Amino acid sequence: MVWPSEAIWEAVSASLPGFTVEVLPQIDSTNTDLMRRAKSGQLDPVLLVAERQTAGRGRLGRQWHSDAAGAGAIQSLTFSLGLPLAPQNWSGLSLAVGVSVAQSLHPDLRLKWPNDIWLQDRKLGGILIETGSFGDVRYVVIGVGINMAAREAAGLSTPPAWLAEVQPDMDAGQALQEIAAPLVRAVQTFEAQGFAPFQARFNALDVLAGRAVVCSDGTMGEALGVDATGALLVQTAAGVRKITSAEVSVRPAVAGGLAVALVPRPC
Ligand code: BTN
Repeated sequence: MVWPSEAIWEAVSASLPGFTVEVLPQIDSTNTDLMRRAKSGQLDPVLLVAERQTAGRGRLGRQWHSDAAGAGAIQSLTFSLGLPLAPQNWSGLSLAVGVSVAQSLHPDLRLKWPNDIWLQDRKLGGILIETGSFGDVRYVVIGVGINMAAREAAGLSTPPAWLAEVQPDMDAGQALQEIAAPLVRAVQTFEAQGFAPFQARFNALDVLAGRAVVCSDGTMGEALGVDATGALLVQTAAGVRKITSAEVSVRPAVAGGLAVALVPRPC
């Protein structure tokens, strides 16, 4: 697998001093590794790519599985961007990242609040953002996983989609190159201006908008898009409720034309 590390470095380093790109054949989790490094004092901006993760992590304690696709192919593009960041308000960062990643890859991609990238009502990718304070520095690790090739649906809460369905000629390196520089720009825009510049772009890609949704806390209603902080607005019988990502997970009440089992889960 050839990775466009130098091209990415050239596109990013002028706006992000100290930036490096690193590709590893295998690691437990790129997020875990960058947080380990931050704890040991390595706080420079870095894009860490793993060809395979042995303990990939998702949101709400879930796993991010990346099976081998065989013949040197990458089944799942997995990387994390780590950098010091100091926005006035952190709310909506994962939504802004989703907007950037989805728009970099294909016009058919959509977003499922708060941090999933969907294609035709199936999950193509996810985002896991973690932060830590180290002295005066707040360091953020933005982890992204994208299914590149066909994968089994067994064991997944949402049926999978993969990028080859809409970009059959794009390999993982090309996908990373499409994503990386716009993602850094998006994160810098978020740092300066917060979520507001991304609100309309998110709402244009929102798969939940206008649909009946059920939340893991039992809330049911119609999704109305997100507000300027990235909170999901749900019209319930009792009025409009604002949902923040820390509280609950949300799914369409009917997915892919089939009613799904709606069992409220703890946050
Ligand atoms: C989710 O869907 O809940 C988020 C999935 C995030 C997966 C990526 S893969 C790269 C990075 N390292 C991890 O362990 N997780 C993120």
